[in-house]
Amino acid sequence: MFDDRTTCAVVVGAQWGDEGKGKLVDVLAERADFVVRYQGGANAGHTVVIGDAQFILRQIPSGILHPRVTCVVGNGVVIDAETLFGELDGLHERGIDTEGRLFVSDRAHLVLPYHKLLDAASEKSQAIGTTGRGIGPAYADKTGRRGIRVGDLRNLAATRLLLDDRIDRANSLLAMMGSSERASVEEHAALLGRLAPRLLAVAADTGLLVYRAVKARRRVLLEGAQGALLDLDHGTYPYVTSSNTTAGGASVGSGIGPTAIDGVLGVVKAYTTRVGNGPLPSAASPEEDERLRRLGGEFGAVTGRARRCGWFDATVVRYAARVNGLTELAVTKLDVLDTFESIPVCVAYELEGERCEEVPSEVERLERVRPIYETLPGWGASTASARTLADLPAAARAYLDRVERLADTPIRYVSVGTRRDQIIEV
Ligand code: IMP
Ligand code: MG
Repeated sequence: MFDDRTTCAVVVGAQWGDEGKGKLVDVLAERADFVVRYQGGANAGHTVVIGDAQFILRQIPSGILHPRVTCVVGNGVVIDAETLFGELDGLHERGIDTEGRLFVSDRAHLVLPYHKLLDAASEKSQAIGTTGRGIGPAYADKTGRRGIRVGDLRNLAATRLLLDDRIDRANSLLAMMGSSERASVEEHAALLGRLAPRLLAVAADTGLLVYRAVKARRRVLLEGAQGALLDLDHGTYPYVTSSNTTAGGASVGSGIGPTAIDGVLGVVKAYTTRVGNGPLPSAASPEEDERLRRLGGEFGAVTGRARRCGWFDATVVRYAARVNGLTELAVTKLDVLDTFESIPVCVAYELEGERCEEVPSEVERLERVRPIYETLPGWGASTASARTLADLPAAARAYLDRVERLADTPIRYVSVGTRRDQIIEV
């Protein structure tokens, strides 16, 4: 990804999240100077495996495991400070020094306990299947211009006044939604008082930091969370998250102009998964869903929920390539398909008797599409130790060729296992 021409790159999920972005960011961070999260919050669960150690990062960029890398949590992220510091303490306990190399935008909005109460209550009337981390309500407060930002902690007295109003409003909403939960101003004020010193110690104008890094041609990796089909605008609305997960969000959410970005890597699984509600056109049969889940360990890193599994959906990935402007593709978890005798690939949909090559904008129509499958032969051999394309069985190479052609995007990376070294760079 990084070369003379590409010094500022975005990594995005090109399906419904959980594509293995954490691993790709970890691998690419080896060559990066900065890793920047730009949207989402503690709903993300980026898994990095180093040797026998597994790290799950929700709020901190996956680059933190590289001692040379500066990590930035940008303005577009919603900050769950308790999770952030819990994660930071966990890293310190495991011997990872983060001193002086983690910065949080002072423009980023805070996710507070009342957002989680609202998230839970709204699931009762409209079941999106959220992660319950308060993400939607925190972004709703941001666009409603009543959010509380990291920088507001610099003036706790004024922020305390804001809290009175915010908590009042949240409690009215909770009552209206039939919830018996209530938020307390005192508890929130105490929480902010506790968090302020630690958060302000890492707070910065991170847009300026990233801008300067880009200007100096330092290598900057912008780490997306979730996936294109969970994007607030481009995803399967309303079954989406509340931020722009696509590459355009990287510019807005990190505070640099779009001209600074010179490459966009889309990460896809060799099959498809989805967690939470909403359509999954290429869903596998119950037996194969179960088999993919078992082989792929398809359980949420944050919630532990079972992910629904299906086959590679080229319509989805082509769409993701378009809305993200993907310049290259990383295909992960190829090894999960090692034992399948044959592998269906969804090449297009059928809708109302016609072939459909695009993702319909209304979820109601997407729910009615029928996948058109092409079946490719399996390879019946382990790919886990392959380190070059030539090491792969011919049928696995043919599968990747088909994926590349259908997605109309060149494959640059193939991941064949959870470990750092289990990667093929094409
Ligand atoms: P929220 O982001 O918690 O509001 O959840 C909205 C939808 O996005 C739900 O379907 C979640 O399961 C899904 N979602 C949110 N974050 C992730 C993620 O990191 N991976 C996969 N799905 C996610
Ligand atoms: Mg995840």
